[in-house]
Amino acid sequence: MLTAKNPNESDREADAASAGEVQPMLIEIDHIAIAVHDLGDAIDSYRDAFGAVVDHREVVDSDGVEEALLKVAESYVQLLAPTRDDSPVATYLEKKGEGLHHIAYRVDDCATVLEHLKAQGHRVIDEVPRPGSRGTTVAFVHPKAIHGTLIELVQE
Ligand code: CO
Repeated sequence: MLTAKNPNESDREADAASAGEVQPMLIEIDHIAIAVHDLGDAIDSYRDAFGAVVDHREVVDSDGVEEALLKVAESYVQLLAPTRDDSPVATYLEKKGEGLHHIAYRVDDCATVLEHLKAQGHRVIDEVPRPGSRGTTVAFVHPKAIHGTLIELVQE
């Protein structure tokens, strides 16, 4: 009798072991955030180009931004404009101009995912979860942590 393992089987085991048996944590794209200079102008552009309508609009004072959420299936496009000069989004616009700012993943438990990332040595912006828009709980992971994308974790 041959006792050698199916090579595909051992590959899978090796993959699972190197991945540390991490359960899937990202349950949906919550939003894709786009930094814009003028929120009203950007809303008009999305309406004229795609017929997109604003589902939610909110000023987030702590972040110095006003946002408009345009629903796309179960996710949003988030248009993000600074409300003051010292807003991180104002700095971003100055350096890079308008465009993709961050990707937000919906998670079941923001604190657990954040602790998991910190335990793996990833650099985070928020050490603990904090209130986001729409009554959500959020935390940002540093863009240098995971392949160059500013990542936001969103718990509804
Ligand atoms: Co966001």
